[in-house]
Formats: sequence, structure tokens, C-alpha cells
Amino acid sequence: MRGKVIAFHSFKGGTGKTIIVTNLAAIYASKGKNVCLLDMDLRAPSLGITFKGDTDKNTINDLLNGHCKIKDVIIDVQQKYATKGRFLVGLADHSPKAIQEIITKDRKWEMKALQRIITLKNTLINEMEMDYVLLDTSPGVQYSSINAISNADIVFTISIFDESDIDGTGGIIQNIYESLEKKVYIIMNKVPLDFIISEDERRGLLKTVKATLNKPILTLIHCYCEVQQSKRRSIFAYTNPQHHFTKSLYELSERITEIN
Ligand SMILES: Nc1ncnc2c1ncn2[C@@H]1O[C@H](COP(=O)(O)OP(=O)(O)OP(=O)(O)O)[C@@H](O)[C@H]1O
Ligand SMILES: [Mg+2]
Repeated sequence: MRGKVIAFHSFKGGTGKTIIVTNLAAIYASKGKNVCLLDMDLRAPSLGITFKGDTDKNTINDLLNGHCKIKDVIIDVQQKYATKGRFLVGLADHSPKAIQEIITKDRKWEMKALQRIITLKNTLINEMEMDYVLLDTSPGVQYSSINAISNADIVFTISIFDESDIDGTGGIIQNIYESLEKKVYIIMNKVPLDFIISEDERRGLLKTVKATLNKPILTLIHCYCEVQQSKRRSIFAYTNPQHHFTKSLYELSERITEIN
């Protein structure tokens, strides 16, 4: 199987992209897949809290600016987490200066950055033989997210049961993903637990989502206080292997392997 590039995106912020993509990467690596997780959320990078350690590596920003090579950016965390498969991570620069710089980049820079992302993707898939390259992105229609999405084989858009989020997700499906001809799947996250909403309410919500988004819903993940309160320094699936959230992500990891 040729490796897959998957972008995790959303209309609104805070829907769960980072926590889902981080834990999926960790699950695949522990199952023996070769995974590279990249922080393409250049406006609000957040993978550094989990993976920073004592590395003196360059950032994805340096790579996109043409200041370093791919090997200078990629952090190997396979040993740290004792995974069967390779577990690589690329971090973005979270300093206020770097974020300010990203906001002011022009079209010409974005085009160069796009070419560099294409090279990065090809190196990871063809030379470093990654099974999965997982991209954490910024919400909305920032250029850096569009660049990441345009390089992905599949887009997972993560939505919560909120009318304005579902509506907005419908908009980006039509205006962005479809114009880029991307394969799109929906992940509904933070779904209220069964004892909070009734079966009827839940069916009604799902019907609305299906009618508005008109794309397959890959999975529903419930809202758990333990996840909300978890520390980003550790990886939830590793510290809570029996938790329902972890089990949902294991199921998701299986479903993804069935997508051609
Ligand atoms: N299923 C869930 N149950 C409870 N809390 C969750 C769940 N999924 C995510 N969260 C919590 O929601 C918050 C936002 O999650 P996360 O940072 O992963 O979202 P995001 O989409 O990456 O946000 P941003 O758009 O700001 O990058 C975090 O506190 C996270 O722990
Ligand atoms: Mg995030």
C-alpha cells in the first residue's frame, strides 16, 4: 500500500483536531505502522506541548522558509514511546514572532511554501516509507490550511453538534474541498453521551448533519470530561488505554484502513 496523507481540518476552532490526530498517530505507531505527524497549524501550533522534549530541531516554519532540510525538522519519538512502527513528528514555531510572520506572508511565499510541502510529502511517503502522514491544520480558510488540504489524499473534517459549526462545515465542503476534488469524511466529535440526549434527539441531529453535509460520517466520538481535563503533555491513548475515547479512536484507525 502506498502511504496516505490525511489532513484533519474543521470550520471552527476547538473541535478536537489536535487531540484526535495526535492519538491516532500514536495508535498507528503502536500498531506497527510508520507515521509522521506534522503541525501545519502555523497560526496556533499546539503539538509542541506534547512532543517538545529537549530537541534542538528546526521547525516546519524554517523548512517552509527554505532555511533547513527535512531531516533537520523531523523528530523521531519511536524510542521515547516504545512504538513498533516509526513515529516521527514535525513541529511548528509557536513564538509570537513566528505567528506574526505567518499572518503577514504574501501569495508568492505561499506558493513557494506549497512546493516545499509537496517535496516534504513525497520524501516522507516515497523515501522514508511512511504509511501515514497526518496533518494537523488551522481551522477555517487560512492559506496554510488550504496548502495542507491540497496535499492530502483524504480530508477529515471534524465538527461538533452545533448548528453554526455544521453550517460552516457545509460551506467549506462546497467551496474548498470539492473545488480541490478531495475525498472527504466527517468526524462528529464531543457528541453528548446517550444519557444526556435521547435516541430520538440523536437521530434527529444525525439526519440534519447528513442533509447539510452530504458526506459520509466516519464516526461519532462522545464528549468525555476525562478528555477535556487531560494534560497535553501526555498522549491520552497511552495513559488511558481502556478509556472509551481511546477505543473510539482504535475503531476509527481500523475504519481509515478500509478507505481506498
Ligand atoms: N471527545 C472529547 N471529549 C471531551 N473533550 C474533548 C473531546 N475532544 C476534544 N476535547 C477537548 O476540546 C479541547 C479542544 O481540543 P483540540 O485542541 O484538540 O481542538 P482543535 O480543533 O485542535 O482546536 P484548535 O482549532 O484551536 O486547534 C481540548 O481541551 C480537548 O481536550
Ligand atoms: Mg489544534
